[in-house]
Amino acid sequence: MASVDAQSRVLSGMRPTGKLHLGHYHGVLKNWVKLQHEFECFFFIADWHALTTHYEDPHGIENSVWDMVVDWLAAGIDPGSATLFIQSKVPEHAELHLLLSMITPLGWLERVPTYKDQQEKLKEKDLATYGFLGYPLLQSADILMYRAGQVPVGADQVSHIEMTREVARRFNHLYGREPGFEENAQAAMKKMGKKAAKLYQKMRKNYQEQGDAEALETARALIGDQQNISLGDKERLYGYLEGSGKVILPEPQPLLTPESKMPGLDGQKMSKSYGNTISLREEPDVVSEKIRTMQTDPQRVRRTDPGDPAKCPVWQLHEVYSDEQTMDWVQQGCKSAGIGCIECKKPVADAIIEEQRPIRDRALRYEDDPGLVRSIIYDGCDQARDEAKATLDEVRSAIGLGFR
Ligand code: TRP
Ligand code: SF4
Repeated sequence: MASVDAQSRVLSGMRPTGKLHLGHYHGVLKNWVKLQHEFECFFFIADWHALTTHYEDPHGIENSVWDMVVDWLAAGIDPGSATLFIQSKVPEHAELHLLLSMITPLGWLERVPTYKDQQEKLKEKDLATYGFLGYPLLQSADILMYRAGQVPVGADQVSHIEMTREVARRFNHLYGREPGFEENAQAAMKKMGKKAAKLYQKMRKNYQEQGDAEALETARALIGDQQNISLGDKERLYGYLEGSGKVILPEPQPLLTPESKMPGLDGQKMSKSYGNTISLREEPDVVSEKIRTMQTDPQRVRRTDPGDPAKCPVWQLHEVYSDEQTMDWVQQGCKSAGIGCIECKKPVADAIIEEQRPIRDRALRYEDDPGLVRSIIYDGCDQARDEAKATLDEVRSAIGLGFR
């Protein structure tokens, strides 16, 4: 197997939600654009994950996928730097998901907080399905398939990465032992003496089953203190403690995406469900119109009434887009009724249109040539499949279903 440096690998995915907006840009996409230059990145569209909640109305998914890919490319994700693909076009994900499902206790899935939360939130949907329960495990398969060490996600997804770590640990524990490793480790353990061996076993169990970090430390100290066993045996005991001789699926770390401060048109967080968005490739006229009709400080009825930026959503946009000087001008002008709201909004609209200019420019090529977008994605899918096949080969033979 060509060895993979997990620490240099990044993988992340998005469910296809259709056209993206400036909130996605300031949160996720700008981060991806930066990461693609620093790591070996895999970015994919999680269409099967969309199906877990939209199985009754899947018709929009395919168009949403293409719209989203164009947004990624327009935002500056470069297919020369990152591998872009569609989950369902790499069916290996389904096989890994299935194999992982064999070793995943039901309780792990049931206690992932998003399981109950989403069922509560999406009450109109019946999410008491096998597929929805398995959502985080499918995500684990996505991640472990590419042996990605780092997974950029929002805070809401951290529990999924945590579960992925547990699944990887369990997999390595069950299937990663090399011939004779366990026997050797057991023999080394006996040399510690009954009492120490018992404590070691207990701590090992606590760490492996509950991820108890303190137990890990205690056991490590215990090994360190042993006077009567060889260095080799100590190494065995350290390795055995963490579960395996061999790491087949490395444990990933979440790379927390900085929370986007992008406010929507009404001052709440920008979100499709609030209907307060500016889309990533919005036409300049539409941007101007959306800003022009934005609510301002409700106390400022007439031009001559002084206002308070703290009570105005336009001010929040100034905080994202304006320099100190402009912000001073707003503060002074608003509180003294020296400027009007239309005047005040102009620099914001201009800044957004300016920010979007290169995005719209890049998008043109792809909007005009859907074939180009498809070929970028198909190339990415080919690359992803090669990686996926290599991992699956190893996974199958570790389990003992290599059939070679
Ligand atoms: N569940 C993620 C979300 O809703 C999307 C996703 C699917 C993902 N598979 C992934 C993210 C793997 C990171 C890694 O945002
Ligand atoms: Fe808001 Fe600017 Fe009008 Fe003040 S002047 S209320 S900050 S839009």
